[in-house]
Amino acid sequence: MNIYPIFDRMLTRADKEQLLGQRGMMIWFTGLSGSGKSTIAIALERELQRRRLLCRILDGDNIRSGINSNLGFSPEDRVENIRRIAEVGKLFVDTGIITLAAFISPTNELRRMAARIIGEQDFYEVYVSTPLEECERRDVKGLYAKARRGEIRDFTGISAPFEVPEHPALSLDTSQLTVEESVDRILKLINV
Ligand code: ADX
Repeated sequence: MNIYPIFDRMLTRADKEQLLGQRGMMIWFTGLSGSGKSTIAIALERELQRRRLLCRILDGDNIRSGINSNLGFSPEDRVENIRRIAEVGKLFVDTGIITLAAFISPTNELRRMAARIIGEQDFYEVYVSTPLEECERRDVKGLYAKARRGEIRDFTGISAPFEVPEHPALSLDTSQLTVEESVDRILKLINV
């Protein structure tokens, strides 16, 4: 028997999804700095919005400058970075929102932790597989040059590891695909 009066219970994820007419999920982008994670996420968000689907991007700009501003790039801090992002992401997914996370998340263990926190059935791992040489050639933020000069320690791909994902739902090499092609492939994957 349910001893709680109905008006005392929080609404459920199903209630939220019904309101929005969509299914909450996490699209988890992983890849090197400069690989194109945020660029694809931004284009995908635009297309989902056009289709009247509610979406939220989590990336370095809104996470590392705010909730995670006390964290750096040591292995321990990267774990805490991803743990908090996954916990926050789960709140969005539980609100029925299509959530896009764009973080390097450089190891299988980090990505497994994120999937575990969020829930495997809601978690789509998208590996932005643009080769290091291309990311370094682009060097959008000038960080690869600094890392090569030894001015940044523990830089992913240069002086800190990046493990290629074992079983991503999708791999997208932005040196081979246009942004539109990448977005199309994700739309097919998530079936919206
Ligand atoms: S993660 O490894 O903890 O997932 P995250 O995606 O949040 O990394 O942040 C990566 C961004 O931080 C890079 O795109 C780059 O702009 C910046 N950055 C600064 N220092 C480093 C570093 N040592 N290694 C990787 N990225 C760094």
